[in-house]
Amino acid sequence: MSKLAIEGGQPYRKEPFPARAPFGEEEIALVAEAIRSQNLFAPSGDKVKALEEAFAELYGTKYAIASASGTSAIHTAIAAINPNPGDEIITAPITDAGSIAPILFQGCIPVFADVDETYNMDPADVERKITDRTAAILLVHLFGNAARVDAIQEIARRHGIPLIEDCSQAHVIKYKGRYLGTWGDIGTFSFQQSKHMTTGDGGMTITNREDLAERMTRFRDKGWVRKPGSRHYVLLGLNYRMTELQGAVGLAQIKKVRDVVERRMKLGHYLTEMISGIEGITPPRVTEGSEHGYWLYALRVDAWPVERFAAALSREGVGVGVGYTGEPIYLCMEPLTKRRTFGNTAYPLDGAYGGRVIEYTKGLCPRAEDALDHMITIGIHEHYTEKDIEDVAGAIRKVAELLPRG
Ligand SMILES: Cc1ncc(COP(=O)(O)O)c(C=O)c1O
Repeated sequence: MSKLAIEGGQPYRKEPFPARAPFGEEEIALVAEAIRSQNLFAPSGDKVKALEEAFAELYGTKYAIASASGTSAIHTAIAAINPNPGDEIITAPITDAGSIAPILFQGCIPVFADVDETYNMDPADVERKITDRTAAILLVHLFGNAARVDAIQEIARRHGIPLIEDCSQAHVIKYKGRYLGTWGDIGTFSFQQSKHMTTGDGGMTITNREDLAERMTRFRDKGWVRKPGSRHYVLLGLNYRMTELQGAVGLAQIKKVRDVVERRMKLGHYLTEMISGIEGITPPRVTEGSEHGYWLYALRVDAWPVERFAAALSREGVGVGVGYTGEPIYLCMEPLTKRRTFGNTAYPLDGAYGGRVIEYTKGLCPRAEDALDHMITIGIHEHYTEKDIEDVAGAIRKVAELLPRG
């Protein structure tokens, strides 16, 4: 192990890592069946309905409502809670814009709770951020690892606030023996291409509450109560329907998702085992009592500037990302930082309906900012072999040993 590739040495890994191939003959057969039926419209088809039934059964919930994306699932969940404009929704500083946009579209104000050492929302900070305008907590389970949802559920109950769990990155992950998404009032899922279970794009919400299920079913279908001959719309909704094509793919995927997650768990834990003890690097911390599905494998790098470490690792043949979204989501979204939302207004961030005016600036969640400043992410997946993981670990070790510190 002589010289870093970045200094002209041989890369640690010369072969490309395997590409992820989530789809197979099962998906092809079901999609063909959907197409042959000459109907790709879910309300009159059987694929999306079957997927909803299978999803509810998998999670042990009374209801599962399919939609077009993870973002639409979150929007559907928030609309079902039915907050007033100007109300606040407490959420995660490290997440996708798809968690935040629906809050704004529903006329609400995102309030960010800082993270703990697992990069998930810290229950104590969630409680600190509650005001008399808090309408919901939107808890994100980041990278496939649980937030301490039991503690947050207890806080939510004590304050009488609904809890939504964004499980876009944490499919079929158990925390204290119970699936994420079943702790709160509503669980939401994304089936976007990179997710453990994918339909290219797609989403799902689950709940045991009939009132919420009813509102979600209507919201994703323009508010329409579908009865023959009726054009009656009971609430303000959108067309967030999933198509039969997505439903068909989802039906094949749902049979595979737990195997995908279990394989990733095994590989992620193996990688952690192999790189533990390297000074200056901290492998991802798994929340006590949680499984971790490693949607992304996030390393903390302290002994080197993170870009330099990532560049060196990448030249050793390991694909890496720096800082996930780069900055916390409240610094990545111009609608928040520039207060530019609808037309030339800042609504709902402008104090309308008695809402609080919050400045989205650096310093809002110092622990999240620090975490992302030191984070590199590695996209291991279920098709990696143990040897692939050993190569990732070997490349990390090589860079840690040879890259000058500081
Ligand atoms: C945590 C989280 N929330 C929401 C979303 C939005 O999902 P989608 O891209 O399916 O709309 C994503 C997608 O990456 C996500 O990772």
